[in-house]
Amino acid sequence: PAPLKVALLGCGVVGTQVARRLLEHADELASRVGTSLELVGIAVRNATAPREGITGTPLADLLTDDAEALVDGADVVVEVMGGIEPARTLILRAIEGGASVVTANKALLAQDGPTLYKAADTAGVDLYFEAAVAGAIPIVRPVRESLAGDQVQRVLGIVNGTTNYVLDRMATEGLELEQAVKEAQALGYAEADPTADVEGYDAAAKAAILASLAFHTRVSIDDVAREGISAVTAADVQWAQRTGHTIKLLAIAERNTSDGVAGIQVRVHPALVPDAHPLAGVRGAFNAVFVEAEAAGELMFYGRGAGGAPTASAILGDLVSVARHRVLGGRGPVESSYAALPVLPADAA
Ligand code: HSE
Repeated sequence: PAPLKVALLGCGVVGTQVARRLLEHADELASRVGTSLELVGIAVRNATAPREGITGTPLADLLTDDAEALVDGADVVVEVMGGIEPARTLILRAIEGGASVVTANKALLAQDGPTLYKAADTAGVDLYFEAAVAGAIPIVRPVRESLAGDQVQRVLGIVNGTTNYVLDRMATEGLELEQAVKEAQALGYAEADPTADVEGYDAAAKAAILASLAFHTRVSIDDVAREGISAVTAADVQWAQRTGHTIKLLAIAERNTSDGVAGIQVRVHPALVPDAHPLAGVRGAFNAVFVEAEAAGELMFYGRGAGGAPTASAILGDLVSVARHRVLGGRGPVESSYAALPVLPADAA
């Protein structure tokens, strides 16, 4: 089969890793897909600005500031620019033009996922987003596909690496929040604006995506009751330690009943986790997610939830899947037929 043209939108910490791995592992990826993946361009805002990991490599010649032209010529579009616009318009343009899409954009999926799912179903193309939740950990596919024949009762876990790193450093080093956030930023874990991490918006977006998939309904970030970690002090963390607890920012989505109405509730908030619980031992930027399903029972997923290379791993896995579908035919799961299981109000704490 002819090589597949891959367009990369965005070249930050994650995009750089995706581009480099596409180049360095080209042969292996080709053997897994059944044809080669040709990176045809990397869309950025300023194509002439120097970029660590790109400048001085063959990747520098691929930089372009014309994202639309790049999308129009691609078989597969990988979006790692983040934010709502222009990512949304470019993804829709790619889908409508018949390209398959891989995205890591949790903010967009949590705000406007149903529009993207519907567009992908109408066009008959794949929309994959393993990297949008919990970095390297395969959690989207298990919830979206492996558990599609079961009934999920609850999804609970740590889905933001930055805040987990911050809380961990506060506990082990006695750091104050601000200092630990700076460290997380330097390590490339934090979002461009760390408010999204610290105030729980990033975790709420991931909770909304997981809840939508787990309960086959539409959950937007606005449905998630949210409290971040900005009010947590080093003294709080130390007090928790003395009482045998660890403070963790938890995301919880569960079936529940409120005023006699069955539905689901989704919330994100700091919680005191007893030290004996496996979530208490999740260190640094690692994430862990528990899923409880009627037939499967309890499942646990654990791994690196943030950082360029771990997130790139999830993106390249998706890329291989959608590329195989283009070579062999077939499509991934469909989301636009979700039933309307109500999302009930939930208190954050
Ligand atoms: N800022 C996010 C985190 C990156 O810390 O988990 C991964 O989504």
